[in-house]
Amino acid sequence: PVADVVPYLDRLASLKINVLHLHLTDDQGWRIAIDAYPELTEVGGLTAVGGDPGGFYSKDDYRAIVAAAAERHITVVPEIDMPGHTNAALVSLPELNPDGAAAEPYTGTRVGFSTLDTRSETTYRFVETVLAELAELTPGPYLHIGGDESHATSPDDYAYFVTRAAALVEGTGKTVVGWHQIGQSDALPEGTVGQYWGYVEAPDADAADARAIVAQGGRLIMSPADVAYLDMKYDVTNPRGAMWANGTTSVRDAYAWDPATVLPGVGEADILGVEAPLWTETFRTIDEVEEMAMPRLAAMAEVAWSAQELRDYDDFVPRLMRLSLRWDAEGVRHLRPAGIPWP
Ligand code: ACM
Repeated sequence: PVADVVPYLDRLASLKINVLHLHLTDDQGWRIAIDAYPELTEVGGLTAVGGDPGGFYSKDDYRAIVAAAAERHITVVPEIDMPGHTNAALVSLPELNPDGAAAEPYTGTRVGFSTLDTRSETTYRFVETVLAELAELTPGPYLHIGGDESHATSPDDYAYFVTRAAALVEGTGKTVVGWHQIGQSDALPEGTVGQYWGYVEAPDADAADARAIVAQGGRLIMSPADVAYLDMKYDVTNPRGAMWANGTTSVRDAYAWDPATVLPGVGEADILGVEAPLWTETFRTIDEVEEMAMPRLAAMAEVAWSAQELRDYDDFVPRLMRLSLRWDAEGVRHLRPAGIPWP
């Protein structure tokens, strides 16, 4: 709910975090009202992981988040994930399916099974309309088109789709953002932003996709999954969270990496910023989210803002311990992971 997001914006602002990226659509639910396609929220908004009740933002809800963010100097970046991660749309709108029959709702956590029909003009009318309504809701410069884990889309169809979707974003006057796989398109608009979510030890294919974005005149957001993802467990005692990104992610892991040395050939000038994603399939409440985000989000803020030569984990830890006392006083939930002599 908006009432949960606004206090979270205060947490972000207190750490000088100035962008909030909202992943608004996925296989399990569609979370933003689109006037031209009310079924997206009337049908696709009703489901969530594990059979939980779904939910969605009305346009007024979304405007309230954008306005509260702006008061805190935070830009909201909305994401419509495509062409994969689209089952909720395929459930809502039968015409998006090649056979004209609505897909079945999905509330598990498997990935990579859904795809928009990339050779259908109905798909592009849908994408254009959704992006136009989203652009109208978005004062900020960016629209995120997702593009991750499109394993049910052939490589040719994927590249074709990304090229067309990116052009539709450009047509709204916004700058395209997408997960780094969008580098598989060789016709990205100038200034496209890729979001690197591979590992710090970059696999060749991920590095190649990311570099292809830079080679086309774009820049990167660095969010390597094994250091930047806030939904990874700190250690195996955490009741919630994931472990798929090379296991657990300690506070030290979250702190001690340099965005400018992850991808050979991608340096400071090619990097727009960093992002610490948090996926919510193992979280139900904002308290659970906040507790998982802190303290690693403080580490990420320092990765973002401090010059690399001034960053030192042993210097960070005593400051983090003092911050934890302030969080206690302010009622900010946070874990105290083992390995740090918390006060
Ligand atoms: C992602 O974590 N699938 C971007």
